[in-house]
Amino acid sequence: MRRTTLTLLPCLLAGTAAGADLAPISSSEVCGNCHRAIHTAWKASAHARAMESRLFQDALELAEGVSGPSAKKVCLGCHAPLALRTGDLALKQKVSWEGVTCDYCHSVRSVSTGKANPEATLEFSLVKSGPLQGASSPAHGAVFSDVHVSSLVCAPCHEYRNPQGLQVLTTYSEWQESRYGKEKAWCQSCHMGRVAGAVVDPRVKASAGAMVNLHEMPGSRSVKQLAKAIQTRMRADRKGDKLEVAVEVANVGAGHYVPTGSPIRQLILDVTADHYGGKGYRETRVYRRAILDRDGKAITHEHRAFLEGARVESDTRLAPGERRTENFSFAIPGGAPVQLKARLSYYYSPMAAAESEQRVVVGDISRLVK
Ligand code: HEC
Ligand code: HEC
Ligand code: HEC
Ligand code: HEC
Ligand code: HEC
Repeated sequence: MRRTTLTLLPCLLAGTAAGADLAPISSSEVCGNCHRAIHTAWKASAHARAMESRLFQDALELAEGVSGPSAKKVCLGCHAPLALRTGDLALKQKVSWEGVTCDYCHSVRSVSTGKANPEATLEFSLVKSGPLQGASSPAHGAVFSDVHVSSLVCAPCHEYRNPQGLQVLTTYSEWQESRYGKEKAWCQSCHMGRVAGAVVDPRVKASAGAMVNLHEMPGSRSVKQLAKAIQTRMRADRKGDKLEVAVEVANVGAGHYVPTGSPIRQLILDVTADHYGGKGYRETRVYRRAILDRDGKAITHEHRAFLEGARVESDTRLAPGERRTENFSFAIPGGAPVQLKARLSYYYSPMAAAESEQRVVVGDISRLVK
């Protein structure tokens, strides 16, 4: 049946030239001929840049420096999953450079979680798996898949235990153990919201409802998404010659810890108190997982975390739903006006090319205390 629909292709697609080159593994560009809105959103995602980003390229080079060519296999497994699956480790094919691309996710048929790491089973064919029941396409077969409408489809790359036994990425299990996991509020409910848009170009097929799942998958690079996750409040009281300050930092909107994922990421709270003519104060709190290698040396770069991380020294991150209050006491005489500031920033990676890409401000409270 699939074959008959495929032979109809040229007439159905007259004028669109779409789908002509569909192969069991195709470039996202080919899919984008019909799935325009989805392609545009995906292009703006971290998934589309997972392989070609400068940050990853630099880290990959360092990884190869640490453990030779075998490192590439580890890293490409998630950052260029089609390259690994097709044996294109030399990265000759364009689709290998497309990172986490359409034909990886839509070839997934099932995901198993029995072993050390979750594992996806893929089938590369002209049948695409997805969330729609009874979809029919002139270009390819379509099969409903329940992993696509659950968090399982994300698990193979967002949960990772390395050969030393360190759980480097724990986003999936953090989610599973949270209220969100128990209520089956899938990753997609926060990362792939439904937005207006056509599933396929209307010239190919008018889609009912005209809604698509946002493939941009905003994460920590989206200040809007960060703002949804974190709430900050500040209270100040004078007690004699002391200024007592309480800053509450809460993870109100993430379905996992903040930060999650890469252990290099940090959330940093800076509190400053300045008063005219007197001593200024500054205190910092850091929310992160500190990772050590086998010799107990601190790890500060992604490639070493994946390859050489051996244990967690401390974990000060904010659990889903957690509200934490940080108390500070500054020796400032009563009566002196104080400029009090609490700034929360999100730190990405020391590998970021520019300082402006290394961290972003996610909360800024400023108050004059008289
Ligand atoms: C010639 C146009 C065309 C091209 C090219 C095309 N598709 Fe589709 N696709 C469709 C149509 C039409 C549907 C059905 C939509 C509906 O029923 O609402 C569809 C449905 C889908 C679905 C939903 C399946 C389900 O059961 O949930 C997925 C996933 C999908 N396409 C992935 C892809 C991928 C990946 C590529 C590139 C390798 C691609 N498509 C290329 C036209 C196309
Ligand atoms: C084939 C592996 C793979 C799969 C499957 C996958 N991801 Fe990712 N994801 C990655 C990689 C690799 C990155 C990091 C890309 C980079 O920045 O280099 C990433 C980044 C992200 C980010 C952005 C993180 C940031 O830096 O802010 C979000 C959000 C995300 N993924 C959510 C999801 C969700 C939700 C799913 C399931 C629907 C999913 N991912 C499935 C590999 C995957
Ligand atoms: C990280 C994995 C991932 C990547 C990469 C990805 N998709 Fe999807 N896609 C999904 C998931 C998961 C859903 C279902 C979301 C849901 O229903 O909650 C989906 C849904 C769809 C649908 C059904 C319509 C809809 O909006 O729900 C189509 C069509 C589709 N994707 C096409 C594509 C195309 C084309 C690309 C590349 C440009 C692509 N996808 C890249 C995971 C992915
Ligand atoms: C209740 C909503 C919600 C759910 C459910 C959720 N997330 Fe998130 N996620 C967020 C918000 C908000 C952020 C931004 C805050 C941040 O980056 O920590 C985020 C950030 C991320 C990031 C950025 C990485 C980082 O270091 O902070 C990744 C990756 C991610 N989510 C993946 C997932 C995956 C995979 C799942 C499912 C297992 C999931 N999320 C479930 C809301 C959610
Ligand atoms: C199991 C999947 C997986 C493996 C294996 C993996 N990564 Fe990643 N990597 C991710 C995900 C997912 C993210 C997104 C960040 C997050 O979740 O916080 C990421 C993020 C990164 C980042 C930060 C990107 C950014 O934009 O901030 C770098 C750099 C990186 N990885 C390098 C590597 C290197 C080098 C290797 C091999 C030694 C590797 N990764 C192996 C999944 C993986």
